[in-house]
Amino acid sequence: MMAYTDRHFRRLVRFYSRRTLLYTEMVVTGTILNHKGETYLDDLLGLDELANPVAAQLGGDDPAELAECAQICEQYGYDEINLNVGCPSPRVQKGQFGVCLMGNPKRVANAIRAMSAAVRIPVTVKHRIGFDDQDSYVFMADFVKACEDAGAQTFIVHARKAWLKGLNPAQNRSVPPLRYEEVYRLKHENPHLEVIINGGIESLDQAEAQLAHVDGVMIGRAAYHNPEMFGNADSRFFNAADPEPMTEMETLARVDNYLTDQVEKGVRPSAVLKHCLGLFKGRKGSRLWRQHISAKIQGIEPERSLAEIYGTSIGAESGSYL
Ligand SMILES: Cc1cc2nc3c(=O)[nH]c(=O)nc-3n(C[C@H](O)[C@H](O)[C@H](O)COP(=O)(O)O)c2cc1C
Repeated sequence: MMAYTDRHFRRLVRFYSRRTLLYTEMVVTGTILNHKGETYLDDLLGLDELANPVAAQLGGDDPAELAECAQICEQYGYDEINLNVGCPSPRVQKGQFGVCLMGNPKRVANAIRAMSAAVRIPVTVKHRIGFDDQDSYVFMADFVKACEDAGAQTFIVHARKAWLKGLNPAQNRSVPPLRYEEVYRLKHENPHLEVIINGGIESLDQAEAQLAHVDGVMIGRAAYHNPEMFGNADSRFFNAADPEPMTEMETLARVDNYLTDQVEKGVRPSAVLKHCLGLFKGRKGSRLWRQHISAKIQGIEPERSLAEIYGTSIGAESGSYL
């Protein structure tokens, strides 16, 4: 999710789940190709020791450029390359990629072929069930078939169509109704493909219920607003041990260590702090926490210290960015 799932946010999610597959924001090919060999690219794409598994999502429509970017991402250590065929933003429409590409399956197929030939890791596609008046099940199934023939095996389907005119990106994530049945049908008719459903799924219980119909679930907004929801994802879905649960103070000590390390590397504190608003959702004190962290993001003194909110200090108050 652009401006959301950057490496700092993904690091926070790793406090709660080591196994959940995470995605980068959509990275447009021009951004990568214009910054080849620069530290900017290391900041954007670099992975730390806790990062994987993580998929790099690319935005673009030029097969050769996408192939080169896929190769660069593979070298950075990503586990998967995902092509964005779902974004309806005006900027993306202007570049004729994102969801517009659903109207040009040949171009998408060429891109998948070029990317698949360039890397050893899987190339996957994130798309919608359709756009504008091209929104029948058959339209989506034909699109998927074209991608499959080009080598894609995994499809992450946002279960709503997009309107290119008349709705802004936020409305395109809420106004068109969710049509889960069509994603279930896609899986049912293509049991050999991996079909991951996306859109409106807000809890691990809801995610588990979806697994009766599809192979996996992608969670967007709910994950961002409450990363702790993944606290038992590893045991529940991956047959692996969950990370040790943490108290608020243990979590904050970890955030503070990470923040201190990042600031030493030249990162602005707010770049990390902004992702902390969703910590502790639903826990006692979460409203005061949000007020505290909002003040810190703005660089003003919070009304209440952490000690006042949580009754104890994180032990690194001097020099702490929290
Ligand atoms: C702020 C924001 C940015 C997003 N950026 C991306 C993106 O870069 N790539 C992408 O595939 N989807 C992006 N999305 C869409 C989500 O991945 C997801 O498809 C959509 O929000 C529906 O899922 P949800 O109901 O679980 O949030 C974005 C969503 C939001 C709210």
